[in-house]
Amino acid sequence: MWREWIPFWRPGASPHAADVDLLFTGLLLTSLFVTALLFSLLLAFAIRYRANSDADRGHRIRKSWRWEIGWTTATLVAFLVLFAWGASLFLDLYAPPSDALPIYIVAKQWMWKAQHPGGQREINELHLPVHRPVRLIMASQDVIHSFFIPALRLKRDVVPGRYQDMWFEPDKPGIFQLLCAEFCGTDHSRMSGRIVVLDASDYEQWLSRQDVNGTLAAEGARVFRALGCGGCHSASSVVRAPPLEGLYGKPVPLQDGTVATADERYIRDSILLPRAQISAGYEPVMPSFAGKIGEDDLIRLVAYIKSLAEEERGSAR
Ligand code: CUA
Repeated sequence: MWREWIPFWRPGASPHAADVDLLFTGLLLTSLFVTALLFSLLLAFAIRYRANSDADRGHRIRKSWRWEIGWTTATLVAFLVLFAWGASLFLDLYAPPSDALPIYIVAKQWMWKAQHPGGQREINELHLPVHRPVRLIMASQDVIHSFFIPALRLKRDVVPGRYQDMWFEPDKPGIFQLLCAEFCGTDHSRMSGRIVVLDASDYEQWLSRQDVNGTLAAEGARVFRALGCGGCHSASSVVRAPPLEGLYGKPVPLQDGTVATADERYIRDSILLPRAQISAGYEPVMPSFAGKIGEDDLIRLVAYIKSLAEEERGSAR
């Protein structure tokens, strides 16, 4: 294969990996070309105008606009092409398809915890089905970590205080390395794990072998009750709070006239920073749950609120 000459090159495990390799090679060749050009000119001039050479030093050439404009334009065009190439790949990498399998990741010193929608949980391992788009919704419990899977050519910083997401579609079964690529404390170097990509049937088997305590949404429903959220967010409550049924994925008009989309990030922010984005037509009465609820429970709540929308869509059909 054409990539094998790159030092340290390892086969990728998703279609995007090949795109990233191509971009990498493009950047490498462009840099090599520019470096070679610069150094050969440097060398040629150094030899031509060395001390005691008989080169003509008397007639300085005047400034040439043709050259100035020429090389400036060439550089500009080269950079714009590289930018457009990188940007299109970036946009593609960060726009998950809507049917992607959502998996929640919580990073903490020093482990990766994964929660599947079915309620399966694992630490420093992530089992995934092959040929199915997977969307990771990632949160950090403490400091900045970085989720890095070299075989997928994917790395994403996981910053505390917000969700990060990324998606990919593994195209071959196998075991791939998972690393933390951001120094996060004493055991940073040991914060690694593996991604296990399985055939569809093996994956189903793996799912069914795990101990589960109900689906992630069912666990979320328990957290919802335990925190007393239903006291305001139910049809019969005295306090008027926005209904959560059918909320996920919908545009939400806000008090300041803007419109937010009710995605995972919005739901999370509404629980932790309820005063930041207030739904139009409601009083800002919601207390903040910042510091009272961990990332794991937040994820369960988010999954529960998402499931309320799916139920609604299901019953409308
Ligand atoms: Cu987590 Cu380094």
